[in-house]
Amino acid sequence: MMTEHNTKVIKQFTIATIFWGIIGMLVGVYIAAQLAWPALNFDIPWLTYSRLRPLHTNAVIFAFGGNALLGTSLYVAAKTCQVKLFSDKLASLTFWGYQLVIVGAVLTLPFGFTQSKEYAELIWPLDVLLTLVWVMYGVVYFGTLATRKVKHIYVANWFYAAFIITIALLHIVNNLAVPVNWHLSYPVFSGAVDALTQWWYGHNAVGFFLTAGFLGMMYYFVPKQAQRPVYSYRLSIVHFWALISTYMWAGPHHLHYTSLPDWAQSLGMVFSLILFAPSWGGMINGIMTISGAWEKLRSDPIIKMMIVALSFYGMSTFEGPMMSIKTVNALSHYTDWTVGHVHSGALGWVAMMTMGSLYTLTPRLWGRERMYSIQLINTHFWVATLGIVLYIASMWIAGVMQGLMWREVDASGSLVYTHVESIKATYPYYIIRFIGGILFLAGIIIQAYNTWKTIKGEVRDEEGVNVTVGAQA
Ligand code: HEM
Ligand code: HEM
Repeated sequence: MMTEHNTKVIKQFTIATIFWGIIGMLVGVYIAAQLAWPALNFDIPWLTYSRLRPLHTNAVIFAFGGNALLGTSLYVAAKTCQVKLFSDKLASLTFWGYQLVIVGAVLTLPFGFTQSKEYAELIWPLDVLLTLVWVMYGVVYFGTLATRKVKHIYVANWFYAAFIITIALLHIVNNLAVPVNWHLSYPVFSGAVDALTQWWYGHNAVGFFLTAGFLGMMYYFVPKQAQRPVYSYRLSIVHFWALISTYMWAGPHHLHYTSLPDWAQSLGMVFSLILFAPSWGGMINGIMTISGAWEKLRSDPIIKMMIVALSFYGMSTFEGPMMSIKTVNALSHYTDWTVGHVHSGALGWVAMMTMGSLYTLTPRLWGRERMYSIQLINTHFWVATLGIVLYIASMWIAGVMQGLMWREVDASGSLVYTHVESIKATYPYYIIRFIGGILFLAGIIIQAYNTWKTIKGEVRDEEGVNVTVGAQA
């Protein structure tokens, strides 16, 4: 029972997701090109790799992923609770406040204003602004749950709620700092404690931003598109509690072989290995939800996107525990293997689930029967899938090669390769990754075009396309 005013803010979040997705991925493609051809920074400071890399990560995680999570969470809360949003004004303020933080990031990071903490680069005034926006968001979200007309809180909301609460906690603790002027501050933690706090934050940003939030999205949009109930509701509850209680302890796997106490590193490794089980619980539940509707895999490219997303979720959460084993990490750390792992989760799981869900959501929001073109969704699916495969396969090969080259010693115990030789050997793989990135970017541009046409109310006549259009929500 969403009012017209309610859907306005969800529409805004939807458009912002695609817009920032294009910007963030464009920057990703640009820095990928710079790794192959460093001269592309043209010796301009704000175009250098070191400044644009955090712009990429912030834009794709927090602007693309964040807008998708904020928008869909509010939509799902109102839909499953059968009420309107708790406050239209606060929802709108949340939207504009969040965009302000993103614009703040765009105006500071390329110019070298940074806190130098990975995924928490924003300078302290932006951190404070984000905290205020997050509180407003929390009030709208939990206010909507509190005023629900149904007794039960649907499981998707559990995941979204865990995401909102945990991100607030992580953001505040990891950004505790003493400001010295308008852009500079010093963290209250130092040394190994600072590192541990940072990776407690970093890993749980993966766990609660890039995982729990998108599992919330999965639990609503996969059943909706497949037109089937969740395979096992009991499994969804069990893996929810297992996931959120395990993630918190796994962070030290980012700090293997550092000055962090050895027992803490081992603890991180053990909890990462345990994490495999709840992660696969979620993947199996999603895939089995589609299992009664396999025929849709032939006819419905949105379902194809969702199954690929779930498969990559399964793959990256198998790979992650493996990489957390100290001896494996000794090989993978510092190499492009990590970057391959990151993007199998980020492109394969996060971006594909977002894109699939937005294809389900867009026609419903604008009151259309279906997207403008199903064929274009299919093209997007194939272009993006090929892009992911090129990206991650090249990074895996490059990563393992780098790790092996760095540890190769001759009979006298001397290193066989210089570092620069490993960089030279990586060159072809950087070009393949760049091509993969262009394909993935092309996919979201196709989605932007399809979305624009859908908003305008156009429908492309596509002979021979067998379409399964979900029932209007
Ligand atoms: C067109 C698509 C994309 C391209 C071409 C691309 C490219 C890149 C490049 C070149 C790097 C730097 C790697 C390095 O320092 O060696 C990077 C890092 C990163 N990207 Fe992307 N990216 C894309 C999409 C995404 C998306 C959609 C997400 C998240 C949802 C994402 C998340 C990240 C993260 C978290 C890192 C840091 C990885 C680390 O520190 O190990 N990327 N990306
Ligand atoms: C069971 C689940 C997972 C485990 C145990 C895990 C484990 C790991 C490990 C061991 C590393 C390498 C740390 C290092 O050597 O520095 C890593 C890096 C990373 N993983 Fe995962 N991973 C999991 C799932 C995921 C998923 C689903 C995503 C994305 C959606 C993801 C995103 C990342 C990112 C962004 C990094 C790079 C952090 C950085 O150094 O900047 N991980 N993960």
